[in-house]
Amino acid sequence: MFVGEVSGVDVTRPLSREEVAAIEAGMDRYAVLVLRDQKVTDEQQMAFSLHFGALEDARGGNITKPEDKRLQVGMNDVSNLGGDGQPLDRDARQRLFNLGNMLWHSDSSFRAIPAKYSVLSARVVNRTGGNTEFADMRAAYEALDADSRAQIEDLVCEHSLMYSRGALGMLDYSEEERAMFRPVRQRLVRTHPATGRKSLYLSSHAGAIVGMPMPEARILLRDLTEHATQPRFVYVHTWRAWDLVMWDNRQMMHRVRRYDESQPRDMRRTTVAGDAPTTAQVEAA
Ligand SMILES: [Fe+2]
Repeated sequence: MFVGEVSGVDVTRPLSREEVAAIEAGMDRYAVLVLRDQKVTDEQQMAFSLHFGALEDARGGNITKPEDKRLQVGMNDVSNLGGDGQPLDRDARQRLFNLGNMLWHSDSSFRAIPAKYSVLSARVVNRTGGNTEFADMRAAYEALDADSRAQIEDLVCEHSLMYSRGALGMLDYSEEERAMFRPVRQRLVRTHPATGRKSLYLSSHAGAIVGMPMPEARILLRDLTEHATQPRFVYVHTWRAWDLVMWDNRQMMHRVRRYDESQPRDMRRTTVAGDAPTTAQVEAA
């Protein structure tokens, strides 16, 4: 019960202040909102997203070189398409890197100031698979026993794209990428700024816990992730073309499921930047 369907809003037009407030309130309450039949252009999707905050600077979030990008600045390409509009080759590094989206994660948890909302528009839906699943990290936190909550309350994790991709066996990065993907710190338990509700801040990008031996940290993170992604905390979204789904990364994890990659799946995301870090960062020595 953390997904709401919004009707009566046309995303292609500027929203009134009341509409923006209603959507924000809906996001605070549900954390995932579904808007059907929104035939948006990239410009309209960006304008809609800007009602809720600044757009996140996408730099440092992937390995695609600027000259290979299919979409303009401000748009995150989460399709399986290359610059030529065709499905990427099986061995394309960009494709392999993007497979990391099939691991449970919270968008941009690898940034010191992680994302607020993600807004995902389905332009071309794949016929086979490709559902997006959402896990409610508030409910997962609240379902922990008191001892577990006390144990994790003040823990700080390190998040990096190299941890999520490392889990897939992608271990080779250039010096430049290594610097770009330097781990950042995030609290494991975070408090929502509007509702005050606590949630688990998990993500496949989390690969270490400050002050904890690595294997112990990995086991704890895996254990918490298994807990938090039980079916009772999960909503499965089956995409229709022109669905627009927005979610609050501060209280949700999500993942995409496998699909027929020989066929196009054109999904375009805008990301509303967060406004504060979850914990202090430590300068690299
Ligand atoms: Fe994502």
